Amino acid sequence: MAVGQFAQQDLQRRAMLLTALYIAQEQYGYLTKEAIERVAERLGMSPGEVFETASFYSMYRAKPTGRYLIQVCEGLSCHLAGGAENLLEYLENKLGIKPGETTPDGLFTLQTVQCLAACGNSPAMRINDTLYTNLNFERVDSILDELRGG
Ligand code: FES
Repeated sequence: MAVGQFAQQDLQRRAMLLTALYIAQEQYGYLTKEAIERVAERLGMSPGEVFETASFYSMYRAKPTGRYLIQVCEGLSCHLAGGAENLLEYLENKLGIKPGETTPDGLFTLQTVQCLAACGNSPAMRINDTLYTNLNFERVDSILDELRGG
């Protein structure tokens, strides 16, 4: 088998793994030990390999979260744009929680991540599967109001 075929198979396997992790997370709410084991079994991998991949990507959750997982980017571009710290502090004050915590109503969990691949449009944050860029406090207020159903 040619080297290129190995690389192609590896890419396909990785794509299947990422998709399977996404589906498992949708089913379980986060990547439980059982979810990791099931994905590993289905793809013929070890749970350790699956866990290692899952922990590399910020879109996967290792713990239960609120209905909306807010991931604030702390990467360099967002930091230089003057947004990261201000945005995080603003959200902490507004929601009354620190990174890793969930609001008492179970609606929002706050988390920090290193880069959301939106560096050209910083500051950025992701809420569940939606990416928000070029943020300012007014925009954050309107996003949170919308999620609260207001
Ligand atoms: S540094 Fe924030 S999106 Fe890349």
